[in-house]
Amino acid sequence: MARSSLNINTKHYLIVGGNTGIGAASVECLLGQGHQLTVASRRIDPDIASRVTYCPFDVETVFALGLPDMLDGLVYFPGTINLKPLTRLMAADYERDYRINVIRAVHAIQAALPALKRAPRASIVLFGRVAAKVGLPFHASIAAAKAAVEGLGRSLAAELAPKIRVNVISPSLTDTPLAQAFLNSEEKRRASGDRHPAKRVGDPKEMAALVDYLLGSNSSFVTGQVFRADGGLSSVRLL
Ligand SMILES: NC(=O)c1ccc[n+]([C@@H]2O[C@H](COP(=O)([O-])OP(=O)(O)OC[C@H]3O[C@@H](n4cnc5c(N)ncnc54)[C@H](OP(=O)(O)O)[C@@H]3O)[C@@H](O)[C@H]2O)c1
Repeated sequence: MARSSLNINTKHYLIVGGNTGIGAASVECLLGQGHQLTVASRRIDPDIASRVTYCPFDVETVFALGLPDMLDGLVYFPGTINLKPLTRLMAADYERDYRINVIRAVHAIQAALPALKRAPRASIVLFGRVAAKVGLPFHASIAAAKAAVEGLGRSLAAELAPKIRVNVISPSLTDTPLAQAFLNSEEKRRASGDRHPAKRVGDPKEMAALVDYLLGSNSSFVTGQVFRADGGLSSVRLL
């Protein structure tokens, strides 16, 4: 559909990894507001596929993305949770964590940049992790990769200003397929929740609401920020 026939507030966003978890919740949230989406991921739920432009894409192997001429925003979701003690950490582990979380995000942004630059204003949202801010055991590899994502976000916010804003959301444990190993019993779920001042884990829908805010014009004065949606884990201590 041509932009001129759409409501002025309707935007076209590229969602890299919108099939499950926070990505899928974000797709539902953004579609609910009438936005157009191009979803690039390895797999796609048929119900989602029927409502978006689907671009089969594996960040591990594919480098070219079929993109529209103009994009109002990009969100990059692919990530890893690879927790190991330092003694068991192999080069392949931290290379994969860095590749999927950082290098492929850079490739996706590079591929989308011409289309993002054609929009009057655009917004990029990346995903960090609470462990980039607070030291947690066994998180060395993923903490290093996600700290790089936070640095990447701030640096690109400076480089691409004022036309393109860049922000990072850094959640703590959130109820998605990626986190199921930590949430697959009531006991684990309670223990995980209890580690947070908020006394629960994150909900993909509340992360999606933050994605929606950061993509949209209500956050037009916000760039180069890291949003710590972590139930207080990185900054609050209960007495
Ligand atoms: N869930 C948490 O506890 C948590 C905590 C902190 C940070 N985060 C971060 O939040 C972001 C989203 O996480 P999530 O929990 O929503 O994860 P998720 O449920 O695994 O979703 C990730 C999305 O990326 C896609 N994806 C994964 N690998 C891909 C690849 N190689 N190529 C293309 N697409 C790929 C997945 O689709 P397919 O697998 O179908 O291709 C899926 O749509 C990640 O960056 C993660 O590190 C999550």
